[in-house]
Amino acid sequence: MTSFLKHLRAATAIGAVALAAFSLQSNTAIAAPEPTPRGDLGPAVVGGTPAEQGEFPFMVRLSMGCGGALYAKDIVLTAAHCVDGSGPDTGITATAGVVDLEDSGAVSAKSTQVLQAPGYDGKGKDWALIKLEKPIDLPTLPIAEDDKLTNGDFDIAGWGADKEGGSQQRYLLKAKVPFIDDATCQSAYGDQLTPGEEICAGNLDAGGIDTCQGDSGGPMFRKDEAGAWIQVGIVSWGEGCARPGKPGVYTEVSAFAADIKKAAGELGG
Ligand code: ARG
Repeated sequence: MTSFLKHLRAATAIGAVALAAFSLQSNTAIAAPEPTPRGDLGPAVVGGTPAEQGEFPFMVRLSMGCGGALYAKDIVLTAAHCVDGSGPDTGITATAGVVDLEDSGAVSAKSTQVLQAPGYDGKGKDWALIKLEKPIDLPTLPIAEDDKLTNGDFDIAGWGADKEGGSQQRYLLKAKVPFIDDATCQSAYGDQLTPGEEICAGNLDAGGIDTCQGDSGGPMFRKDEAGAWIQVGIVSWGEGCARPGKPGVYTEVSAFAADIKKAAGELGG
């Protein structure tokens, strides 16, 4: 448990039901024993539109209220702040194959093990792998191994809140957000940003489109040169959601590509 998260739990314990505007820790509030109603988690994709069935087949919804992507058929890549640590864990259910979470055609699988990024302490390194009890037969999402595609517009999707303070969504929402360079993002977030490990995206001046609470762990992705989907980010944090001047912050997947590959190998992926 990081001091950052401890802080949140302490705040929750003293009755601060309203989530801090600075929202990295909100999913921890979901998983925490304190009575935080799910509907107060805050926004999922803000400014989005419904995704088509099958449009993003690698998208996963995790039962603790996070997103994820199929890194392998039996391994989900999500955010470190969505999980409690590393080790055996049969308590997470992954749901995939549907845009409508209530669709009877949904495919689901339970977790067997979790591997949280080594050295994760609440700042940067916001990635984790979840090993599933059985493979899910859907396309996987390869991760970027360098920063060649860290530019242009990125795709985001999730079942999280559709506005700050909004409720979780039944139907998958999607949107596009432009890349924001480190220097510009640092002017928004200062030292809170870890530039070598995070990338920012959003409409800097206008806001209006963003991921939000409950989207955490989900992928930020785009098409590669060959027209295939590739993951460049993991939904991590932001101050509020879709606020002007406060872009979304995403784990820079390429910075951890080797670590993720190694960790997947350790999970037998
Ligand atoms: N930490 C949030 C979650 O747990 C994700 C917040 C993303 N915020 C943003 N403004 N892009 O779901």
